[in-house]
Amino acid sequence: MSFIKDIVRRTIRAFQSPNIVTAQIVTQLPEMRLAGKRVVVTGGTGGLGEAMARRFVAEGAGVLICGRSEEKLAALSGEIGCEALPLDLTDVNAFDAFVTEAIKKLGGIDCLVNNAGISLHEEFQTVTAEGFDCQVATNLRGPFFLTQRVFKYMEDNKVKGNILFVSSETGETADIRPYGLTKAAVNSLVQGLAYLYAPHGIRVNAIAPGVTATGMTGVSNTNLYYPANPNGRAYLPEEMAEVATFLLSDASGCISGQIVTCNNAKTVNARWK
Ligand SMILES: NC(=O)c1ccc[n+]([C@@H]2O[C@H](COP(=O)([O-])OP(=O)(O)OC[C@H]3O[C@@H](n4cnc5c(N)ncnc54)[C@H](OP(=O)(O)O)[C@@H]3O)[C@@H](O)[C@H]2O)c1
Repeated sequence: MSFIKDIVRRTIRAFQSPNIVTAQIVTQLPEMRLAGKRVVVTGGTGGLGEAMARRFVAEGAGVLICGRSEEKLAALSGEIGCEALPLDLTDVNAFDAFVTEAIKKLGGIDCLVNNAGISLHEEFQTVTAEGFDCQVATNLRGPFFLTQRVFKYMEDNKVKGNILFVSSETGETADIRPYGLTKAAVNSLVQGLAYLYAPHGIRVNAIAPGVTATGMTGVSNTNLYYPANPNGRAYLPEEMAEVATFLLSDASGCISGQIVTCNNAKTVNARWK
């Protein structure tokens, strides 16, 4: 069938040694699915955000990445071919100027990807008030108010926009860590906003990745060994970027309010489990 030629198979360091787990992933060849869209990606200086920014640019989007590290922003934006602006998500007072400047650089905003996040990986007994507040500020409060500001722009300018949150599989199950609690709250926010803004033509969705090879997890993309995932390996950021591209594209125009969990059914509550 003709679509088969549009599928590219990519092998990441296949079969080097019996102790090294690698992956053969399938991604669509870029086909300008985001042509003309202006996309802001928070936390675009590494991990999932970087992979998404690369993919969105390849799909024809104008992209602006942000993060705290000005050095990384300068280096990556030049390499990827996108715009960049520094932003600390914990600094809500900076959002107005950030959005104004992002609109100037991109000529407008069609899509916001709330990707930036942190996890302190603590145990319940060792959670501190500072650690709790820091994760809530980065993973929930920041995306909440940035989205509020971008929605105002979209409503004022009648932009039929698209907001994508990067949640987590941890938001799907009961949790005792601040990280998981922020992601559960994000999932609720996604559904509420999607319902509220559907009449305005604005879509809101989330991807909820399983453990992926990024700086956050420390899993290297040269050895994806991770037996706790159902497929026995960590995911690659490029796999998440593929799903994100579909959700930002007009091909998913009837989908809003959905948390698309990307973990091969790990958190499904099967009756016989
Ligand atoms: N990796 C996984 O297994 C996994 C699984 C489920 C969900 N997720 C989610 O995926 C998203 C991306 O995570 P990742 O794994 O790609 O992590 P990562 O490799 O550690 O990258 C995190 C990104 O967020 C930015 N960031 C952190 N704090 C920030 C702040 N206060 N203000 C602005 N930017 C900030 C960082 O940039 P600067 O350092 O330059 O600020 C960086 O670009 C997060 O929301 C995470 O919860 C990840």
